[in-house]
Amino acid sequence: MNAGMKLWLYRIPFERLAETGIPNQRSLPMSSLFVCHRTVFTVSLLLACLTPPLSGAAETATAEVSPPALKVYKGRLIAQTMHWEGAEWLLRKEREREESTQRMIRTLGLKPGQTACDLGSGNGYHTLMMAGLVGEMGKVIAVDIQQEMLTMLQERATTQGIHNVETVLGELHDPKLPDNTFDLVLIVDAYHEFSHPEHMLLAIRKSLKPTGKLVLVEFRAEDADVPIKPLHKMSKEQIMNELPPNGFRLVHEFNELPWQHMMFFERAPLPED
Ligand SMILES: C[S@@+](CC[C@H](N)C(=O)[O-])C[C@H]1O[C@@H](n2cnc3c(N)ncnc32)[C@H](O)[C@@H]1O
Repeated sequence: MNAGMKLWLYRIPFERLAETGIPNQRSLPMSSLFVCHRTVFTVSLLLACLTPPLSGAAETATAEVSPPALKVYKGRLIAQTMHWEGAEWLLRKEREREESTQRMIRTLGLKPGQTACDLGSGNGYHTLMMAGLVGEMGKVIAVDIQQEMLTMLQERATTQGIHNVETVLGELHDPKLPDNTFDLVLIVDAYHEFSHPEHMLLAIRKSLKPTGKLVLVEFRAEDADVPIKPLHKMSKEQIMNELPPNGFRLVHEFNELPWQHMMFFERAPLPED
């Protein structure tokens, strides 16, 4: 395979899946969307006829359940969610060479007995490695918004005899994590897809122990040699525009991964604390 072909392949999972026949969310048939919308509309109409009007407080609470998704955050275009049908790409053989994943996982400094979270876990490429480091006395919670990803992860854990992993089906704006629990939250190549970055960062911040760390791994936008489309990369400058205002302080950087930034954050005070 020549270099040009490789470059093209790296770009497939995100923006060109529809062209290759591997579906992403954009390639969902319109008919299935239509059926879905029509059903929701019919059920909503029935409920509207049958249920009494909500009080003001209840209406507010309902509205808070689904805050509007952002398309842009602090000048950055938010990428679409990678569809689970492309998940095999996350387990590709070349990934170790391209991303030095074992080195990245060792650099996390996880210790036996710790509690960690792999947020936006996909099918668990990193989750299972993390599970080995925290050992049987520790635990890794994997969160994703696609149940199919979590099911694949569970199957992989079972096949490999790994028992210290739990999965949580999150929502776009809520990872459903317990407060004050994690020694470390890892987000690899997923933060740039979050449609509710502030809601997510607030929830992550609450889920960390006071000494806990958030580790963000994103493809380097500053590096034209990283063969990933710009929408799926982030610059350090952009990361620093987004995390510190949401209560995170940069405490460490690991700059030796081939393609990615790896930035360690701790909880920092917010004015409302
Ligand atoms: C490109 S994949 C990366 C998966 C995994 N971290 C890896 O590197 O193998 C991004 C994942 O983030 C998930 N995701 C997107 N938005 C999310 C959110 N708000 N909460 C949790 N997961 C989310 C997607 O469903 C997808 O599985």
